[in-house]
Amino acid sequence: MRRPKNDLNDLTGKEWIKFTRTWFVCDSPRYWRNKPTELHPARFPEEMVADFLRFFTKRGGAVLDPFAGSGATLVACAENERVGVGVELSARYAKVAADRASNLLVPQFVIRRDARGIGAADFWRRRRARMEEAGIVFRRGLPQFDFVITSPPYWRMLRTSRGGVFSKHKQRAARGLDTAYSASPTDLGNIRDYGEFIKALTGVFRAVRRCLKPGKYLVVVVQNLRDPEGEVRMLAWDLARAMARSGWQFQGERIWCQNTKPLGIWGYPKIFVPNYHHHYCLIFRKRRKRS
Ligand SMILES: C[S@@+](CC[C@H](N)C(=O)[O-])C[C@H]1O[C@@H](n2cnc3c(N)ncnc32)[C@H](O)[C@@H]1O
Repeated sequence: MRRPKNDLNDLTGKEWIKFTRTWFVCDSPRYWRNKPTELHPARFPEEMVADFLRFFTKRGGAVLDPFAGSGATLVACAENERVGVGVELSARYAKVAADRASNLLVPQFVIRRDARGIGAADFWRRRRARMEEAGIVFRRGLPQFDFVITSPPYWRMLRTSRGGVFSKHKQRAARGLDTAYSASPTDLGNIRDYGEFIKALTGVFRAVRRCLKPGKYLVVVVQNLRDPEGEVRMLAWDLARAMARSGWQFQGERIWCQNTKPLGIWGYPKIFVPNYHHHYCLIFRKRRKRS
């Protein structure tokens, strides 16, 4: 019997199956050692991105990260022979990402702009020629990516500090490091109202869908979180539901567990308060058009 053709990735059957387990641990030492961790308050590890890239693309594939931060996706792309495009609002983080990208062998692109514009041809016009040269296909003025992976702001989480303990937030503030991405009103991390935030984020992903090839995948890394009033906001679940309503096909989740993060003493000895040491990698698919 002939084996069906693998159109998605370059993995062996064994590697494919291994990836489908719904949880994984990633405590990359590089993540903690790397200087950009100092420059950006909420990075994800390159090793984690690399695993997703190898599953959802083939070598040479084109990848978008609409909230690129310090450029972890671009580094992972270059190391795995994929072409990455990172969009980042903050000039400071876009520079960190561009500096990292400039040392890489495979061309990577950093665009310092508001990701909400991604679905308009104007957004891409200036870079189109260079992106096409790197092998990225355009259709009706928009690039067509093989895969999108990103981690958006977790609502206003960075702006808030909880409890009387010396939290990560307070430690960063004491060292003079960023405790928010920016003061810009276009920064999604500055939206006060939770419902408005979900709406804005879903809007960005609706625009992103126009830049993704049919049948291909989007991975959004998010977390449920506790706000300063102690209320748990079900960000991962609320976003998954809103995305499904806006036309994305939800394919399931992989849970990224962090095993070496220190535990905070939150509710002891009165009330159960979780230490959130896991993130949801929500996996969506762009439906193919029915013929
Ligand atoms: C969770 S961080 C991404 C971190 C990145 N994954 C990394 O490893 O460095 C979210 C990023 O979204 C950016 N951001 C917020 N609003 C934006 C917008 N409207 N357009 C583009 N980027 C935005 C923030 O500046 C921040 O760097």
